[in-house]
Amino acid sequence: MQNHPVSETRERGGETRGSAHPLTRTVAFMNQKGGVGKTTTVVNLAHAVCEQGRRVLVVDLDPQAHATLHLGVDPESVEWSVYDLLLDPPVAGSDRVLKVREEGTGVVGLVPAVTDQAAAEHELADEADRMGRLARFIDGVKHEYEFIFFDCPPSLGLLTLNGLACAKEVIVPMQAHFLALQGVGKLLETVQLVGQGVNDQLRVSGVVLCMHDEQTRHAREVVDDLKTFFKESRGLDVPWSGARVYDPPVRRNIKLAEAPSFGETIFEYAKWCPGAQDYRAVAKSFVDEWDALLARRSQTVESKPDAAAAPATSEPVA
Ligand SMILES: Nc1ncnc2c1ncn2[C@@H]1O[C@H](COP(=O)(O)OP(=O)(O)OP(=O)(O)O)[C@@H](O)[C@H]1O
Ligand SMILES: [Mg+2]
Repeated sequence: MQNHPVSETRERGGETRGSAHPLTRTVAFMNQKGGVGKTTTVVNLAHAVCEQGRRVLVVDLDPQAHATLHLGVDPESVEWSVYDLLLDPPVAGSDRVLKVREEGTGVVGLVPAVTDQAAAEHELADEADRMGRLARFIDGVKHEYEFIFFDCPPSLGLLTLNGLACAKEVIVPMQAHFLALQGVGKLLETVQLVGQGVNDQLRVSGVVLCMHDEQTRHAREVVDDLKTFFKESRGLDVPWSGARVYDPPVRRNIKLAEAPSFGETIFEYAKWCPGAQDYRAVAKSFVDEWDALLARRSQTVESKPDAAAAPATSEPVA
């Protein structure tokens, strides 16, 4: 059997030894709508995944620098930011990453944002390789992380496009409202267009429901519609043919809104509140789904070595 190093280290007792991750799950958390829970999801999911002993890199693409602040880093004090990486991508990049959390073998690394990052959109406007700047940096560091999360701004500018150029997956944080559902249809089409132009491997893995009010009939109806839509997309030649609604929905919980002002994740601020329980559970399904995919890939390599390079279209390509 041909083990890749990730599954090999798991077999030795669930710990990731060393820092070699030849397969990395790169996910852009994206929704052009503002205030839907992108940053809250990126930061808390990253810490929950780290608590499982995994190595996660958070890349804060948003000039608002909310993920940076939420992780307790002052954007005014950082030496390197996404802005520097875009303007002058370094050859070797691990010294550009801040280690912001550590739990046993788990790590959260951060490439912080600075507020004048928005200027990069204009400064790079005439550069031929402007969409691929971040990818050069990510290529140099991704072997050190099993997961890379991009916190996208609520717009489809150059910063988001750089994230989409290096991600293999898009996860859409959203609220279960009728108008938000309409917006997701447009968002999926946008991902498809971006995929055709910038990154044809890009897939939509699913939706994380944020600030969920499960008591309301309206929210339940919207979730049912969303699930039906994804079910009907199975087998179609679209980037969301493998998408799903992650379980459980993240309930509206005031602790999640309070934690950022202390520069703490929910697991530091109120580790047993409903918000922490929900993000822990989402992290478990997210990691389990990845482990299952890796296990399927190892079996494919074992039985059909040539098929390893051709995963199913609905699966993210590591
Ligand atoms: N489950 C929740 N319960 C209560 N408040 C929440 C929850 N999720 C997020 N919030 C709060 O909602 C607001 C918007 O969330 P967040 O900043 O994560 O959204 P965003 O999509 O990243 O926004 P932007 O588009 O501006 O980047 C924040 O004040 C956040 O603390
Ligand atoms: Mg945000």
